[in-house]
Amino acid sequence: MGKVDPAFIQEPEHRPRISYIEGEGFPLIDLSPLHSNNVSAIEGLVKEVGKACKEWGFFQVINHGVPLEKRQKIDSDSRKFFEQSLEEKRKVRRTEKLVLGYYDTEHTKNVRDWKEVFDIAVEEPALIPASPDPDDKEITELYNQWPEYPPEFRETCQDYGQEMVKLACKLFELIALSLGLPADRFHSFFKDHNSSIRLNHYPPCPTPELALGVGRHKDGGALTILAQDDVGGLEVKRKDGEWVRVKPTPDAYIVNVGDIIQVWSNDKYESVEHRAMVNSEKERFSVPFFFNPAHYIMIKPLEELTNEQNPAKYRAYNRGKFTASRRRSNFQKLNVENLQISHFRISD
Ligand code: OGA
Ligand code: NI
Repeated sequence: MGKVDPAFIQEPEHRPRISYIEGEGFPLIDLSPLHSNNVSAIEGLVKEVGKACKEWGFFQVINHGVPLEKRQKIDSDSRKFFEQSLEEKRKVRRTEKLVLGYYDTEHTKNVRDWKEVFDIAVEEPALIPASPDPDDKEITELYNQWPEYPPEFRETCQDYGQEMVKLACKLFELIALSLGLPADRFHSFFKDHNSSIRLNHYPPCPTPELALGVGRHKDGGALTILAQDDVGGLEVKRKDGEWVRVKPTPDAYIVNVGDIIQVWSNDKYESVEHRAMVNSEKERFSVPFFFNPAHYIMIKPLEELTNEQNPAKYRAYNRGKFTASRRRSNFQKLNVENLQISHFRISD
């Protein structure tokens, strides 16, 4: 990635600013009440989560219960994997058939991202529809590709995935309560969850003012839990339209509402745009975990959250078909916008 290929260059209005606003007021939530039985502390926590989801769509959590060693292990294995030669990494590259593994050619909104990634399914096989075609009932089984090096890579990622699932379930209970729903309201959607981990590596970029590590986007899943290192670069679009940089907090996770929560909550909690800046001196690593319902789940506003005054704003859509359509457009640069939840919006 030495010379800057025009494929990486953002349109002027989407280029990052080199001076930035650092997350003033960005919510930092202490999850320790979850490990106690203090009812009023939990109620306070539920309120905080609800407020953060509504006002930001993003928050950081501390005292989340994920053992630090597990995070350090995936960080160091990720570094070891990406340090290898391109030739080595390409032995586990993704192809049109093997959609998990390594690649360095992702595009977000048709501009190339300044990054290389490794995708892992948390549960194997991951099941997704073979094609976006609604009449095609075929389901594909996806398997991970595992590199030979580092030697414990597989175990590290699998262990980490289980920790993330536990944390995501706890967060969903808080989100349910914050919407006035029973804590277990979302459980059934995640019975056969289809979640993934992505290892992101953003190499130093000679022109950080022209490119982005990940272009502006919203996460299409239900909930994302991101571990970022101490370099920083994640920016979130605040509700007033300003891009705000999320200051790295050691051992914290950054949580964000994905498109599916937006639909379930009938827009009460919105999925927010974010992007990652790159840096001319430092490489950066991050590890998002994407928590997703099973492929067969139909996503639509929850009945408890809609009524005559507040009718459903979306038509139901199938989670798997949505992903299948996205996957097709992510694999290659296409001259069409990829599928968005707005395509299911009922116009009023
Ligand atoms: C993503 C993402 C941000 C980051 O991978 O969806 O938003 O800071 N990553 O790596
Ligand atoms: Ni994202």
